[in-house]
Amino acid sequence: MVRHNNEYTFFIFLVLLNFSIIPINLTICVYGENMINVLHTKTPPQTLSSPFEFEQNCGGSNRLCIKSANVTLTTIYANTDHEIISVTRVVADPAAELVDCYQFTEGTQWFGGPEFRYQFWPVQHMYYEEEPYLPTHPQNMALSERYWLSGKGVYIYVNETNPLFLDQNNYRDNYICLIAKNKAPYRRRDSVQLDYELGVFPNPKAAHQHVVKNHLGKPTGHPNERMIRYPIWSTWARYKANVTEKIVESYADEIIANKFNNSQIEIDDNWETCYGSAVFNPVKFPNVSALVRRLKQKGFHVTLWVHPFINRGCEPAYSTALNNSYFVKNLDGSVQMSWWQGVNAATIDFTNPKAVSWWVARLKLLQNLGIDSFKFDAGEVSWLPQVAKLNGPLDMQPGIFTKDYVEALAANFNDNIEVRVGWRSQELPIFVRMIDKDTRWTQDNGLPTLITTLLQMNLNGYVHVLPDMIGGNGYLDGSLNGTEYPPKELFIRWLQTNVFMPSLQYSFVPWDYDNETIAICKKYTDLHANQTSEILNAMQQAITNGTPVNPPIWWVDPTNKEAHRINDEYLLGETILVAPVIEEGAISRDVYLPAGTWFDPNRGTIINGPKWLINYPAPLDTLPYFKKYH
Ligand SMILES: *[C@@H]1O[C@H](CO)[C@@H](O)[C@H](O)[C@H]1NC(C)=O
Ligand SMILES: *[C@@H]1O[C@H](CO)[C@@H](O)[C@H](O)[C@H]1NC(C)=O
Ligand SMILES: *[C@@H]1O[C@H](CO)[C@@H](O)[C@H](O)[C@H]1NC(C)=O
Ligand SMILES: *[C@@H]1O[C@H](CO)[C@@H](O)[C@H](O)[C@H]1NC(C)=O
Ligand SMILES: *[C@@H]1O[C@H](CO)[C@@H](O)[C@H](O)[C@H]1NC(C)=O
Ligand SMILES: *[C@@H]1O[C@H](CO)[C@@H](O)[C@H](O)[C@H]1NC(C)=O
Ligand SMILES: *[C@@H]1O[C@H](CO)[C@@H](O)[C@H](O)[C@H]1NC(C)=O
Ligand SMILES: *[C@@H]1O[C@H](CO)[C@@H](O)[C@H](O)[C@H]1NC(C)=O
Ligand SMILES: *[C@@H]1O[C@H](CO)[C@@H](O)[C@H](O)[C@H]1NC(C)=O
Repeated sequence: MVRHNNEYTFFIFLVLLNFSIIPINLTICVYGENMINVLHTKTPPQTLSSPFEFEQNCGGSNRLCIKSANVTLTTIYANTDHEIISVTRVVADPAAELVDCYQFTEGTQWFGGPEFRYQFWPVQHMYYEEEPYLPTHPQNMALSERYWLSGKGVYIYVNETNPLFLDQNNYRDNYICLIAKNKAPYRRRDSVQLDYELGVFPNPKAAHQHVVKNHLGKPTGHPNERMIRYPIWSTWARYKANVTEKIVESYADEIIANKFNNSQIEIDDNWETCYGSAVFNPVKFPNVSALVRRLKQKGFHVTLWVHPFINRGCEPAYSTALNNSYFVKNLDGSVQMSWWQGVNAATIDFTNPKAVSWWVARLKLLQNLGIDSFKFDAGEVSWLPQVAKLNGPLDMQPGIFTKDYVEALAANFNDNIEVRVGWRSQELPIFVRMIDKDTRWTQDNGLPTLITTLLQMNLNGYVHVLPDMIGGNGYLDGSLNGTEYPPKELFIRWLQTNVFMPSLQYSFVPWDYDNETIAICKKYTDLHANQTSEILNAMQQAITNGTPVNPPIWWVDPTNKEAHRINDEYLLGETILVAPVIEEGAISRDVYLPAGTWFDPNRGTIINGPKWLINYPAPLDTLPYFKKYH
């Protein structure tokens, strides 16, 4: 492996002075063995009225300097408002490693990047150690589009075909480094390529809209309205893998007895005879069609948890799939992998159309029993035997697995499915769920990350966000076996935080606490249902204009530096600002309102932003939120 080191490092300072915006200071440091031959381009193409100069000795400001045998920088569009630069680096040596690092300048906030367990926001202080930049599970990187955006309106968008790794604050403090190299989980390319776009816009909103239009894409439709209006009730957090017909039915009866509506009741983990059989366990579920009929009479839709795995020994499913080459194989031909409910299992190959047909047909048989739809789990490329050999273009592997998985689900099932992964699949009209949240108050995958993950998903272009279960999953000591109930305060604050997001998902129930909890939960479940038209309207805007459904608050005040820092508030569309209490024991919080005139429905007052509301009172039954006053 040729690891190009610091002696070849040089910097490109890119400072734009001709712009109405504050000068932007980006530093590109290029590591490379073949940097001796200096590309010396004096001026950009004549046809462009670009403020850039290409010069060899970067010392001063207002200069863009390129030095490399194999770096091509092209200004692909420029006007007085914005500039887009495409950077292409190709090295013929397959053992080479290309590294481009950008400095985070003091006082500038960055957004975007991958979903992550410790989801901070803004993202420049997050830490990544040469992380393969793909949908992977160990750190909850299920959505990882190659896109970063700064508060100054600069974006970086990396080509999906590059074998990309992300290193942030590790090689160098305060730097984001984009690395391209031939290393698992990527298949070997004959040459190594790193190509990406830099865009410079007057503000992050304008930059984001450009990226949606040109790279991320926008949804073609929205999920089922009933899933938006009424809660999903899942068996998972409350019952874990201990589901039976009796449990499901008594859960449903409790929901009705407590007068809550539903979009659907979801039968989660362990309804199968064995994992991957796609057949109900007859001991636990003696008569599924009768059960489903009774549930429907009670007003429920019924959905099932489904995963893309088959455990070895789960027959005849495993052998049928193996014999027909329906499983993903690694380069040695082995199908073996493990997942959280199977140490020896295999994964259906969604890049193989025959495998998809067979797998989908089995789920259709379940629908014949009356099952309405499915919660599809997993789909990250880290669940494949490594290095996976898939169908489709080599330079789209392995990310194409995730893309083909979710596309097959959206194509074959209805609009009340949910998935938890995506890869270049922002156009799908379906819910994407946040990865399992933990029952905590902390940034370690707890309540604050309900907001930061919402913002990350929206900025990656996945705007139909299905928040995880209210109160978190209640994993006892991190295992799937025991259950630790969320404390009452956490449960209520979690629901409040969730109210203006696109859907509510219960598993733990209000009536396991007390009457006060039931009353508060009724009120906020009702308040959520009342937002249905606002949510649908924001989704329609996303479909038409590519705008986020739940943007960060700077969306309505894009150049406001104070707004760039806010990570405990969010918007619904462009008219509702939500500032929930997410701190244990707190009965008030500081709220920042960006520019605009805001109506406070809790107090009936009107406030002119930008303004900090210090110690805004918010006892346990109060959710601070504000409406844009027209
Ligand atoms: C530079 O790129 C060209 C064309 O892609 C390639 O033929 C050449 O080998 C590359 N040079 C190095 C030093 O990798
Ligand atoms: C990404 O790279 C591929 C292969 O080099 C190229 O065909 C494609 O146009 C690039 N995409 C973008 C958005 O630059
Ligand atoms: C499973 O549910 C039954 C009630 O149906 C209960 O008696 C049992 O304790 C539960 N087991 C676990 C491990 O939670
Ligand atoms: C449940 O839904 C029905 C039909 O939309 C509605 O009339 C009713 O008010 C809802 N009840 C609750 C408790 O939300
Ligand atoms: C399941 O229930 C339905 C409706 O009650 C009934 O017609 C059917 O015979 C039952 N099937 C079995 C296998 O018991
Ligand atoms: C799979 O192939 C083996 C070997 O040919 C055969 O014995 C077995 O019956 C097949 N199993 C299934 C389920 O098709
Ligand atoms: C969970 O319970 C199962 C069955 O009782 C057991 O085999 C497994 O080891 C347990 N897992 C953990 C993490 O405790
Ligand atoms: C709610 O109040 C009623 C009437 O006082 C009581 O019967 C019931 O047990 C209470 N429920 C809970 C969950 O505390
Ligand atoms: C929801 O809307 C209904 C009908 O407009 C209204 O009566 C109810 O008070 C609202 N609930 C909340 C919590 O806003």
